[in-house]
Amino acid sequence: MTIPVFRPSYGEAEFQAVREVMASGWVGLGPKTAEFEKKFAAYLGVRHAIGLNSGTAALHLAMVVADLKGAEVITTPLTFVSTNHAILYVGAKPVFADVEEATANIDPESVRKRITKKTRALVCVHYGGRPCKMDALEAIAREHNLILIEDAAHGCGGEHRGRKLGTIGRFGCFSFHAVKNLATGEGGAIVTNDDAAAERIRKLRWLGISKDTWSRETIVKYSWYYDVEEVGFKYHMNDIPAAIGLVQLARLDEMNARREAWARRYDEALAGLSWLQCPLVEPDTRPDWHNYVIQTDHRDDLNAFLAERGVSTGVHYIPNNHYVMYKKCRGKTPVCERVWKRLLTLPLFPDLTEQDFGTIIAAIREFGQAKGL
Ligand SMILES: Cc1ncc(COP(=O)(O)O)c(C=O)c1O
Repeated sequence: MTIPVFRPSYGEAEFQAVREVMASGWVGLGPKTAEFEKKFAAYLGVRHAIGLNSGTAALHLAMVVADLKGAEVITTPLTFVSTNHAILYVGAKPVFADVEEATANIDPESVRKRITKKTRALVCVHYGGRPCKMDALEAIAREHNLILIEDAAHGCGGEHRGRKLGTIGRFGCFSFHAVKNLATGEGGAIVTNDDAAAERIRKLRWLGISKDTWSRETIVKYSWYYDVEEVGFKYHMNDIPAAIGLVQLARLDEMNARREAWARRYDEALAGLSWLQCPLVEPDTRPDWHNYVIQTDHRDDLNAFLAERGVSTGVHYIPNNHYVMYKKCRGKTPVCERVWKRLLTLPLFPDLTEQDFGTIIAAIREFGQAKGL
C-alpha cells in the first residue's frame, strides 16, 4: 500500500462525536459550533473565533472586513491559491513579495520594497507550519499602517515567541480541511481581537442576516424574525464538523507533538545526506509541523523514485505567479523561482508508523546511492 503524504488521525472519539450530533437532531449551525468557537478561541488566547466552512471563506471574510477594494495587498506566491484568490474576490490587487531561501516564507525585506501609497494590507502564510518572521512583519505593518492578515492554514497550534500563530495579525485565518492538523473534512475559522470586526463577520458568514438561527434562548423558542443588513455569504460552519473539531482540538497538542517527533526523526535520519536540506526552523519558534518539506536539486527524480517504491510526496506549491491569471501581477520573485523547484513534501502525519518511516528513509538513501550522490 502506498504511504500517503497526509492522513487525518481519527478514532472512536471522533466517530462517537458524529453519532451524537446526528442523533441530537441539530446538525446545522448550532450549539456544537458555538462550543467549538469558544474552545478554539480559548486555546489560542484570542477574543473571537468564528466558525466557517473553509479556510478560503476565512480569507475572503478577512479581506471584506479589511475593506480592501482597489488597494494593493502584498502576498506570497508560495501558497495554495485561496490566499491570493481571496484578494481578488474583493477587487484588490495581489502584489507578490519574494520568499526566503531557507524557509520559503515571505521575506520581510522584499515586502518593504513592494510598499506603495496603495498598499493597505499584508498577508503572510506560515509555510508548512514554520512561523514567518513575525516581529519584522508586525513592524512593517505598524510603520506603514497596514492590516496584517495571517493565513494560518498550515499553522494550527504553532507558536512564534510564545504567541500562537493566527493571533498575531489583525485577523488569523484557519483551515480545517481534510489534510490539516485539525481536520474536520471541510471547515475553517477566522480569529480576531477586534470586537466590531467579529460582529460583522458573524453576520457576513450567514448571508448578512442579523442573528443566528441558534442561540441559548432560541433553542427553546424559535424566533422567526431577523433583518438582513448587507450582502453576506453562505460560509458558516455546521455542527457536524464542529463536533469533529471539538475532539480534534482536545487532541491537537498531542497530535502536533507526534508530528514534531517524526520531524526530529527525519532530521536525524537525513542529516548525513549532503544532497538534500532539511527544513530550517527560526529561533524561538515552535512549528506545528504541518508539512516536512526538504529541498533538493533532484526533486523531480526523487519524487518519481519514491513513487515507484510506494512513497507519495507532494510539491507545495507551484508559485501562484506562474498561473495564467496571476502572470500580470506586479512583483518579481527570483528566490521563489529558484526555491520552488527544490521543494518536496515528505509524508508526515501523527499516525505514521515505524514501518512507513523505515520504508521512506531506506528509499531516500537508495536514491542517493543509485544516483552516486
Ligand atoms: C495556505 C493555505 N491557505 C488557504 C487554504 C484554504 O483552505 P480551505 O481548503 O479550507 O478553503 C489552504 C488549504 O487548503 C492552504 O493550504
